[in-house]
Amino acid sequence: MSRQQIAAGNWKMNTTPKAGVRLASAIAKRKRPEDVLVIMASPFTHLAAVSEAIKGAPNVKLAAQNCHQSESGAYTGEISVDMLKSVGVSYVILGHSERRQYFKESNELLAAKVNTVLTKKLKPIFCCGEELKVREAKRHVRYVKKQLKEGLFHLSAKEIVKVVIAYEPIWAIGTGVTASPEQAQEMHAEIRQLLAKQYNQKVADSISILYGGSVKPANAKVLFGQADVDGGLVGGASLKATDFVQIIKSF
Ligand code: 13P
Repeated sequence: MSRQQIAAGNWKMNTTPKAGVRLASAIAKRKRPEDVLVIMASPFTHLAAVSEAIKGAPNVKLAAQNCHQSESGAYTGEISVDMLKSVGVSYVILGHSERRQYFKESNELLAAKVNTVLTKKLKPIFCCGEELKVREAKRHVRYVKKQLKEGLFHLSAKEIVKVVIAYEPIWAIGTGVTASPEQAQEMHAEIRQLLAKQYNQKVADSISILYGGSVKPANAKVLFGQADVDGGLVGGASLKATDFVQIIKSF
């Protein structure tokens, strides 16, 4: 069984178009293992320019950080999957905890977004993860399973294998506190078992599950070394080309 190893950078609301293109070019140009899929999620304003900048670089793809669930229409300020596709986007991050928390995105809404992304032949990077108080109450596994069931498990086996799952414990995002390799592995293994139960082992074994939350060059190797951790969704450290390239080389 060989799953795709992925290093994905979520730039969040950072960089200007100029800085984003500079960052993307620096990463795309750098020597790195070509079997690792590199994904960069830039802000909407520079997706087109970043797409140009990474053109021709092997195994480098572009992601958006969100999309609307409708194809088009009167949704002021929103962006459609067709729009994203037209500028070279291949992946869409959905259900990031910052979207769930600040923009009140529910599992039900995310399920609709997942459908739209898949219908348009793009791939969702579906995020899940618990708050600290949920973990302290030892309800984290149950909590994450509910997010997956409600957001993803309406999909068929053929559809779900196109999804990348990212486990991002909220208490580890932007805090400098990383989940321990054991904590990450525990949750990733639970997610994979759940996928096997809901679908089958083959499906479970083919889906990449990424860890996110203070991934840095110093901890990437040990995290990516866990049996069920197939890579990372990286925030802060993806904004520095040297750090991100080091993370890409940590498999
Ligand atoms: P940090 O790597 O900055 O903790 O952010 C993680 C994240 O939210 C990626 O989506």
